[in-house]
Amino acid sequence: MTDTAVDEAFVQFDRVQKSYDGEILVVKDLNLSMPKGEFLTMLGPSGSGKTTCLMMLAGFETATHGEILLDGQPINNIPPHKRGIGMVFQNYALFPHMTVAENLAFPLEVRKMGKSERDQKVKRALDMVQMGDFGGRRPAQLSGGQQQRIALARALVFEPELVLMDEPLGALDKQLREHMQFEITRLAHDLGITTVYVTHDQTEALTMSDRVAVFEDGRIQQLAPPDELYEEPANSFVAQFIGENNTLLGEIVEVGTDSCVVKLDSGELIDALPVNVSNVGDRTKVSIRPERVEFNKDRLNPNAHTIKAEVKEFIYMGDIFRFRLSVAGNDDFIVKTRNAPDAVKLTPGETIEIGWLPQDCRALDA
Ligand SMILES: Nc1ncnc2c1ncn2[C@@H]1O[C@H](COP(=O)(O)OP(=O)(O)O)[C@@H](O)[C@H]1O
Ligand SMILES: [Mg+2]
Repeated sequence: MTDTAVDEAFVQFDRVQKSYDGEILVVKDLNLSMPKGEFLTMLGPSGSGKTTCLMMLAGFETATHGEILLDGQPINNIPPHKRGIGMVFQNYALFPHMTVAENLAFPLEVRKMGKSERDQKVKRALDMVQMGDFGGRRPAQLSGGQQQRIALARALVFEPELVLMDEPLGALDKQLREHMQFEITRLAHDLGITTVYVTHDQTEALTMSDRVAVFEDGRIQQLAPPDELYEEPANSFVAQFIGENNTLLGEIVEVGTDSCVVKLDSGELIDALPVNVSNVGDRTKVSIRPERVEFNKDRLNPNAHTIKAEVKEFIYMGDIFRFRLSVAGNDDFIVKTRNAPDAVKLTPGETIEIGWLPQDCRALDA
């Protein structure tokens, strides 16, 4: 990292480690640098250290090693009331004795804002989460989903510079969750808020974020914009964790800078893009996205590598058709197609030829 990048970072984790018990590191040598206004998502399986990172950034936990900087200052040196951090957690308690409107006005009162401006901001924040008619209710008179929307409105009402959200939409039903995903990103961008968002839901991460940090076991495996993460996963973990993915196991038999030959365990030779394999003899997991596999003969690219497949299952999903195939010893090879008038429907038991371009076939670590 260059010095300029460090200067411009609004949030920065510098070689941060965290242990709760003095033995096991749950965050391992974490580096992260976020510019102002960015919407960054920490995505990873349960227990991978996401919440711990957020708690350290909020100042509720301290790093065992390394440093966390906010606008160039170590977080520990900034008093809590000057941090300007809004927070939303899945179980973020509202004040039960206050009405919804009083809950929202509270952070503004603390900041000594006058009543008319306060009322205006409370109204705006309530409208923003579609709760405009609920200002007079108490939290106990709201559903869990409604309480969470109020918690979100309360975190945004004072227009903080940095907002931290830990799985804030986990309790909401699908439709409301999708609406709120859209609202949160729109608000964050409109208000110019820097956001660190935590989720284990990859769709949420891909649709909401400027960049996504994929966590595994206390480390960031890849930090990239959503399209890059999905289309150019840097390793097998990311390829498996983000989106649907087909893998074929094999060994590298030839390797150059932008192509390699893999001998699959089934004996078949295929061309692939070497991503993080370097030597002949290396074991590899070859990764191919379902939508990059063509099974309509008429649409097959002349440069495509073709391979035999047996159709195992047809799964109707409304907008798309999914087929499970057996390919080179993998019985869980998925392909899909849009439910268009000319869509090819495959029948279980049928043997077909499928194809893909070598550059869509990524040789990753095994
Ligand atoms: N307060 C705590 N005391 C001890 N261990 C903790 C504490 N909080 C989290 N952990 C452990 O740290 C690891 C990372 O947890 P966490 O940051 O909550 O992960 P995530 O949010 O990705 O699910 C887990 O193994 C968890 O059990
Ligand atoms: Mg967590």
